[in-house]
This record gives sequence, C-alpha cells and structure tokens, in this order.
Amino acid sequence: MDIFCIDGPVQVSGTIRVNGSKNASLPIMAAGILGAGRSVFKSLPFLSDISVFSELLGQLGCKVGREQNGDFFVDSSSIDNPFGDYDIVRRMRASVCILGPLLARCGRAEVSMPGGCAIGVRPINLHLRGLRELGAEINLKNGYIVAEAPRGLEGKEIFMGGAFGSTVLGTANILMAAVLAKGRTVIESAACEPEIVDLANCLNKMGAKIRGIGSPRLIIEGVQGLEPVEYGVIPDRIEAGTFMVAAAITGGELRIVNCRLNDMMAVVDKLRGAGVSVEPAENGCVVTRDGNVNNSDVNTLPYPGFPTDLQAQFMALLSLAKGNSVIIEKVFPDRFMHVAELNRMSANLRKEGSAVIVSGVDKLIAAPVMASDLRASAALVLAALAAEGTTVINRVYHIDRGYERIEERLNEVGARITRQSI
Ligand code: EPU
Repeated sequence: MDIFCIDGPVQVSGTIRVNGSKNASLPIMAAGILGAGRSVFKSLPFLSDISVFSELLGQLGCKVGREQNGDFFVDSSSIDNPFGDYDIVRRMRASVCILGPLLARCGRAEVSMPGGCAIGVRPINLHLRGLRELGAEINLKNGYIVAEAPRGLEGKEIFMGGAFGSTVLGTANILMAAVLAKGRTVIESAACEPEIVDLANCLNKMGAKIRGIGSPRLIIEGVQGLEPVEYGVIPDRIEAGTFMVAAAITGGELRIVNCRLNDMMAVVDKLRGAGVSVEPAENGCVVTRDGNVNNSDVNTLPYPGFPTDLQAQFMALLSLAKGNSVIIEKVFPDRFMHVAELNRMSANLRKEGSAVIVSGVDKLIAAPVMASDLRASAALVLAALAAEGTTVINRVYHIDRGYERIEERLNEVGARITRQSI
C-alpha cells in the first residue's frame, strides 16, 4: 500500500495540464458496446478506474487496450457474456452503466447490484425504473440485477428526477438504452452535466438521434443500430477545479491548461467570492491569490450548480478563510469523511446533518491522516500543501482512482510530495 508524505507549506506556481475526464470516459467506454466493431477513444486518462472498466468490458467479450499513441480502443464485434461480475462492480460503482447498453445491444444483461460506498448509500432505483419504463423486465436475484428485453426496448416519456435531483449515471444508462429503442424516448429531468453532454455527442457521432443535449429534456429517436466511432473526451473539470484550489490554498500562481471554464462557472464564481483571481487564458485560465481567503457559503447541487465532487477540496480552502462558512451537501448528504481528517490537521469544522460549519483558522498543521474516498483524499493533499510540517496520507490508492500521478504533476509546480510503498 502506498502513502504520501507531503512537506508544507509550499506555493504551487507554474503551468499544469488537465487530463481527460474520468467521469466522461467511463460511460463513453460503455457506449463502445453499442457500436458493434472497433471504436477509438482519445484523451482517456491513465487511471485505475479506467483499468477496472477495461477489465469489465473484457469480461463481456470486448477486446480492449491502448494503442501506441495512448488512444484507447474497444472492439465490441462480439459480446458473448452480458454479465457484470460482483468482483468488479464492488470495486467501481460506475460499472452499473453497462446495464443500459447491454440491454439495448443483447436484449439481456445481468449485472451485480452495487453496494453503498464511502460517500453514502447511493441507490440505483431511478436507473431501474427508467429501464422498466422502456419495457425491460427486471428482477433482483442473488444480489444481481437480471434485466431482459427479448423483443427490444420501446421509447417512452420518462421522468428521471429523484429526491436529490437528477442522476448522472442513471441518465447515461437510460440514454444508452433509448438510442436503440423503437420510437421516441423523452427523458425529463435528465442530468445536464458536461459528462452527459459528452456522452450524447459521442452517441450522435455513432449515429444516434438525440436532441436537447445539455438541457433537462432529452429527446431520443430510436435507430436500428450504431456505428463504431473515433471520439475524444472532454477535459476533467473536477481535476481542473482541484488544481484551482491548489493555487488558491497555497497563494501560488497556476496556469491551468486544457480547462473549459464555461463548464465551471459555479466553481469560478465561488473562488472569486473567496478572494481568488481566476482569469481566462489561452485554452484555460490563470489562478492566483494575493490577499486573505474570504469566507463563503457553498451548496452543492446538480450541474450547473456547484459540484459535489469539489466540496471536500473547497472545505480545505475555506478552513483557512477569515470568518465562518457553511457548506451544505445537497447531492450526497453523507459525503463528509474528510471532516474528521481535516480536523486532525487543525481545521475547525463542525458537522450538522448535511451541513458543515467551517470556522476559519490561521494555519493548518501537518498530521497523519487517512484517505477515505477519491475527493476526500484530494482535499487532504490540498490541505497538506498549505499545512506546516509533514503530512502523511495513508491509503492513497483512492486518489489514484481519479488523478493520474498527482504527486509528480504537483511536484512539477512546486509541491514536495513523495510516494512510499509500505
Ligand atoms: N440517486 C438516487 N437514485 C438513483 C440514482 C441516484 O436516489 O437511482 C441519488 C444519489 O444517491 C445521489 C443523487 O441521486 O443522492 C445523485 O447521484 P448520481 O446518480 O447523479 O451519482 P452517480 O451518477 O452515481 C456521478 C459521478 C460521481 C458524482 C455524481 C454527482 C461518475 C462515475 N460518478 O455518480 O463522481 O459525484 O455523479 O455529480 O460519473 C467522483 O468522481 O468522485 C464521483 C463520486
């Protein structure tokens, strides 16, 4: 198991490049199932989540791998085993998004029911309801979802809103099922996240007929079949936001390239409110902070609201603000595993239900801490960059799921992080 030893405080300054989006890549890899043949996806990051998803596609019967230039290919000419094993799904919940495309392509899918995870219970009731609306028969058997549609799926008007708003992977699943359904499907209260826009654009390039992309009302005219595709995924807005906070929390000056500010308006707005300068620059932005961090209140919401995937990182930043802030988690109300760890680093955080009251402190102080999930780990790395002393972060495999070689990339802009195997 690897640990990070992070010496602080440092200022991160220089240029850093954002990789392709993990959360766009995973459903787009699943879309490869729909176009029988060899699809090529560009800019997929080198992450453990991508490797796990590759393994899953391989088990279905796809041939998958990297070209010499790093492009990723999925050859789905033959899918002889529409089965998502518990052993893989328990390692990565996003595996559940093979359900829709498998059902559309094979008329049958058996996929392990995902369990809870460090960020909450995470039900998939909306995924299943949507697929049932399209005519699938779905039964739960020995922890597996057994979905069948031997005569194909039929288009329908489907409402996909739940108690916490829209669902990202639920929308992806229904969208990938609906593209091959007979007739018209309308998905109302669809997720509007840029990753869903990217998936829909990819599907249209494969021959799907999707309108309303980027809006909460997706209209899909079913087609007979899709073609394999060559497609490049969007940059990772959560990685970009994490780097923005790195500049902000350390008072450095970071030029962030391959970053689409238009996808990040809520984040940029909150950073500016906290006293951080974010200036558009060629293919990205420059982020600096000269004065104090201002206190600020943050509510996480589905897109275009402030993303839950940056909540933990912002909490690290606001820990050093002048005054008190309130952070309310409206997407995953239990996503607060980082609170106790940040408090071990001398932050002053108090959890009240799905809110955290952040009383700003003058400085953070290094401590041994434990990574619990991907974004919580990122918050600990950010806090450690600003903290006095050497922070030791255990279980960094969580961070490797979503950030490629983060220590090397941050070290190139002034961080002092060493990875050690213990
Ligand atoms: N929900 C339901 N029923 C469902 C589906 C979701 O009640 O059937 C609830 C969830 O429990 C949650 C809310 O709806 O309260 C939103 O969940 P959503 O389905 O949108 O989350 P997801 O699709 O499982 C993706 C990302 C997450 C990200 C969320 C929210 C991927 C692979 N995962 O998850 O990313 O936090 O959307 O934006 O795209 C991460 O990258 O660290 C990560 C966790």
